[in-house]
Amino acid sequence: MSSNPLEEGDALEVYPRRGISIVRGKGARLWSAEGREYIDCASGVGVANIGHSNLSVAEAVANQAKILLSCPGIFHNDRRGELMQKLVGIAPGGLKRVFLCNSGTESVEAAIKLARASTGRSGLVTAMRGFHGRTLGALSATFKYRDAFEPLLSGNKFVPLNNIEKLEAAVDDTTSAVILEVIQGEGGVRPAERGYLSAARRLCTERGALLVIDEVQTGFCRTGRFFACEHFGLRPDMMCLAKGIAGGVPMGAVLCADTVDAGIGVHGSTFGGNPLACAAASAAIDFMCREKLANRAEQLGGYFSQQFQKKQSNSVREVRQIGLMIGIELKQKATPLLQALLDDGIIALPAGPTVIRLLPPLTIEDQEIDRVISALQRVL
Ligand SMILES: Cc1ncc(COP(=O)(O)O)c(C=O)c1O
Repeated sequence: MSSNPLEEGDALEVYPRRGISIVRGKGARLWSAEGREYIDCASGVGVANIGHSNLSVAEAVANQAKILLSCPGIFHNDRRGELMQKLVGIAPGGLKRVFLCNSGTESVEAAIKLARASTGRSGLVTAMRGFHGRTLGALSATFKYRDAFEPLLSGNKFVPLNNIEKLEAAVDDTTSAVILEVIQGEGGVRPAERGYLSAARRLCTERGALLVIDEVQTGFCRTGRFFACEHFGLRPDMMCLAKGIAGGVPMGAVLCADTVDAGIGVHGSTFGGNPLACAAASAAIDFMCREKLANRAEQLGGYFSQQFQKKQSNSVREVRQIGLMIGIELKQKATPLLQALLDDGIIALPAGPTVIRLLPPLTIEDQEIDRVISALQRVL
């Protein structure tokens, strides 16, 4: 017999649970079944950039649900065409074509296949501490969570982030793609350096490999630009997107330059680019542009750093902040502090054993940021 639905007694337990049942959200706030209020500095793991239950997205979804929910890729669709135009319009120059899917790992999976199809090679070069998803292809490019699933794709080389020499040695004529995050999210909020990213670009061009930038976590205004690539004027061959793209509705995308050469049947997805998700994403992107959320992330992130540094505690080793992507590296384990924050009404994330990661909605209000800073001060 099933147990209490609020405790999801029927779930296959794959997540480390925090013992709370979340039933409602608005902006940067979430509410539990018992009515307790939380400030969400996880954004559903980097998803709710435009806030929970954003009204523009809710209306777009409700309207589209009455018109058309699904439409396979063999047909054109107005909502999908409109979204693709918007994505190409906001993307770094040169990314002109779009493949739509349903999640971050699917976008990386697609990029791996497209890189193979375009180059005729199978090798990958990816960064230590990098995270690109949990399906078998994307997991092959991911540094952690892989041991139980070997053998994965062969021919992947892991290199230390920001070590140009090691990258030079790894990229060769078997490399189909170099896959990097501009700022490693799960790996601890660790930014790649400008020189390293331009070396990656140069090496890929010289040696016939494609540069894939995974912006699943950094995209959609999170770092103070629409895409983190823009901080460096970086022009990838492919950019992987998901998380914040559609205001909480599942969606992923790969944006491709002319160097990507697909063909009929190379890839596909039943739900990828369905009109419902496209309507949500169009509304979410319009909201980000209208509310200038990239500027807001840059400004509020700066404010956080300034206020937090003023009162910084001895248990903090370093704060890494780019827009509203914030990593607080501790001199101790993060888990007990995450629990203490939760008890104080703040939901935050780990990023490795000693880093507290904050990814609040970019619509978070100034007073809410102040509350987060006070709570951090208390628990540290
Ligand atoms: C950089 C990056 N790539 C890929 C993924 C996988 O995305 P998803 O969980 O939507 O499959 C994540 C998820 O955290 C991510 O942070």
